[in-house]
Amino acid sequence: MRILVVNGPNLSMLGTRQPEIYGSMSLAEIIAEMREHAAGRGHELADFQSNHEGSAIDRLEQRDFDALIINPGAWTHYSYALRDALAALSCPIIEVHISDVEAREDFRKINVIRDVTSAHIVGRGWPGYLEAIDALG
Ligand code: DQA
Repeated sequence: MRILVVNGPNLSMLGTRQPEIYGSMSLAEIIAEMREHAAGRGHELADFQSNHEGSAIDRLEQRDFDALIINPGAWTHYSYALRDALAALSCPIIEVHISDVEAREDFRKINVIRDVTSAHIVGRGWPGYLEAIDALG
């Protein structure tokens, strides 16, 4: 299976960004762990990170993947454009959040994409990305 991993805004700063909330693993380290985990299950992994909503939507429009793992960062809470892009996909979509968005500020409890995703993994730290691969089977 070709898995695409998309990370949204500010996730490029993982490792130094509020490590008490998001941990000390950099995005590059997480992707390396994911790639190894995926390979062990016979999957290929491509990754994409952007701070720009339109660029992420352009990437999704390439349709060169069989499953999507996405941490949309703050887009989760307000982006109907991303929601529409996800709704247009027919492949499995696993939503990942490193932190427990339900237990933080009220605005993080708003989620405009959840009902167009297949599953969500929330508050499990960076290993949640590995769980997302497992969720794909
Ligand atoms: C996040 C949670 C979002 O609320 C936040 O805007 C992020 C990261 C997470 O992984 O916990 O950027 O998606």
